[in-house]
Amino acid sequence: MNHPAFASNHVAVVTGAASGIGLAAARRFAGLGMNVVLADLPGERLDKAAEQTVAISPHGPGSVAAIATDVSDISSLKALEAGVIARFGRVHVLMNNAGIQPGSAILSGNDTWEKVFAVNLWGVINGSRIFAPAMIAHGQTGLIINTGSKQGITTPPGDPAYNVAKAGVKAFTEALQHELRNTADCKISAHLLIPGFVYTGLTANGRTEKPDAAWTSQETVDFMMQSLENGDFYILCPDNDVDRATDEKRILWAAGDIVENRPPLSRWHPDHADTFKAFLIKARPKID
Ligand SMILES: NC(=O)c1ccc[n+]([C@@H]2O[C@H](COP(=O)([O-])OP(=O)(O)OC[C@H]3O[C@@H](n4cnc5c(N)ncnc54)[C@H](O)[C@@H]3O)[C@@H](O)[C@H]2O)c1
Repeated sequence: MNHPAFASNHVAVVTGAASGIGLAAARRFAGLGMNVVLADLPGERLDKAAEQTVAISPHGPGSVAAIATDVSDISSLKALEAGVIARFGRVHVLMNNAGIQPGSAILSGNDTWEKVFAVNLWGVINGSRIFAPAMIAHGQTGLIINTGSKQGITTPPGDPAYNVAKAGVKAFTEALQHELRNTADCKISAHLLIPGFVYTGLTANGRTEKPDAAWTSQETVDFMMQSLENGDFYILCPDNDVDRATDEKRILWAAGDIVENRPPLSRWHPDHADTFKAFLIKARPKID
């Protein structure tokens, strides 16, 4: 049983669909008989992804469209929405998933900061704001799934631009879901996909084989489908290295930096590293 938004002949739009998690999602949706729009930067990868998606669809080429889109450009996202409506009439599932991770440094590389924000944060905000009104108005059940990251929650040192952008995706998607659930007659809900370590174009770093620790994109989409069926807002995916219990502890510890008045990122602070290790072993404290 899938969430009812994934009904046959419903319409799904996936950004970043030429690769990785987005491609796996597009293929899954097509396999369910949905009409699927793959949105990604123009090129052979997008065309190939569309071909692979058509191959899975029970309804053939007419049910799959590739629309070249740059999510960092609001006019491109508006053209995507107009193109989807012209072709399929309405949207039931929107997955704002396109992302980049070029790496960043706290005090240099302004262009990189702006690019990471434009794709990873503005791409999600603009995508949601452009598509949501017509999705709400058509009155049928639907989903907006925004791809965040654990790095937007526990904000580990090393890639601050990515962390800040993904923290924004979390805050935006929480606010979006609050708004949707308080909108009369709205049958659309928003969800935050929080992948673990997934072997994709983003993380391959020249590797040609999946590291043991990583999940595949298909496993991630399996987990997402089950979580959506359960009605979960936070789709907190484990991987082969990090289980849910560990993620819960890491998230609690990060929030505890404020509550306990510790320094920020104390998990990586020499004065607190041992206490964090001990915290990981202890049973998770009960939250009232
Ligand atoms: N792979 C992981 O371990 C992991 C972990 C946490 C979060 N994520 C997030 O998952 C999402 C999907 O990433 P992935 O791992 O499948 O990587 P991926 O590189 O395989 O796929 C990302 C896709 O986004 C597309 N894209 C990049 N810039 C774009 C733009 N301006 N407009 C349109 N499309 C654009 C790329 O062309 C690519 O096809 C990203 O938001 C990423 O931050 C991934």
